[in-house]
Amino acid sequence: MASGAKTRTKTRVAILISGRGSNMVSLIAAAEAADYPAAIALVLANRPEAPGLVLAKAAGIPARAIDHKTFPDRETFDAALDAELRAAGIELVCLAGFMRIFSSGFVAAWAGRMINIHPSLLPLFKGTHTHAQALAAGVRLHGCTVHYVVPELDAGPIVAQAAVPVRPGDDPASLAARVLVQENRLYPAALALVAGGGARLEGERVVFTSDAAQADGALRSL
Ligand code: GRF
Repeated sequence: MASGAKTRTKTRVAILISGRGSNMVSLIAAAEAADYPAAIALVLANRPEAPGLVLAKAAGIPARAIDHKTFPDRETFDAALDAELRAAGIELVCLAGFMRIFSSGFVAAWAGRMINIHPSLLPLFKGTHTHAQALAAGVRLHGCTVHYVVPELDAGPIVAQAAVPVRPGDDPASLAARVLVQENRLYPAALALVAGGGARLEGERVVFTSDAAQADGALRSL
C-alpha cells in the first residue's frame, strides 16, 4: 500500500429504527469520516412508515422495512430480522428508537454485539415516558445512556452517558429536546468506542482500554 498507510477494517453496523431516526442520522453522518471505525451497512425498520427509512435511503444506505405486523409472533419476526442481519454480514447492531421488545433467543444471539440508546441516566427511569418520569421525580440532572442490550429491558452494561440540567419550567417536550441534542452527540462517540475496541464487555461491566482515556475525555466534555 502506498506510503505504508494503515488500513483498518470497519465494523459492519446495522441500525434498527421505528420512527424519526435522528440518532440514526447522527450515526450515518459520523460514519462518513474516513477514520470512523464503523460502517453503516444497513438500516431496518419494523414500521414501513418510519420517516427514518426515507432519510437512510437519501444517505445512500440500504434500508428497508420488515413489518412486524405481518408475522404471527415475536419469534418469527425476530428470525426474519436475524436472517437479514446475517445476510448483510452485520457484526454490530445499534438500536436507535427501535420500539419493539425482542425474544430472548434474538438477544442471546446478538449478546455483546447489540447496543441501544435510552433517554435517561440509567438505571433511573427505564421504559417509556422517561422525561415525564424525571420531572415527576424532581431530579435536577437528566440525560441519556448508551448500553449493551441484555434480556432485561434497559438494564445492560453502560458504555456512555451524557447529562443535561432540568430547568425550572421544563415540560416533557422541552426536556426531551435538550436530551436529544446530547443523544445525537453521544451515540456516535459511544459507537466509535465499541467498534474501535476502546470499550468491551467483561462480564456485566464495560471496560475501557487505556487508549480510550482520550475518548473518555471527549465524552466528559460533550
Ligand atoms: C430517542 O429519544 C431514543 O433515546 C429513544 O427513542 C428516541 C428515538 O429518537 N429510544 P430518534 O428516532 O433517534 O430521533
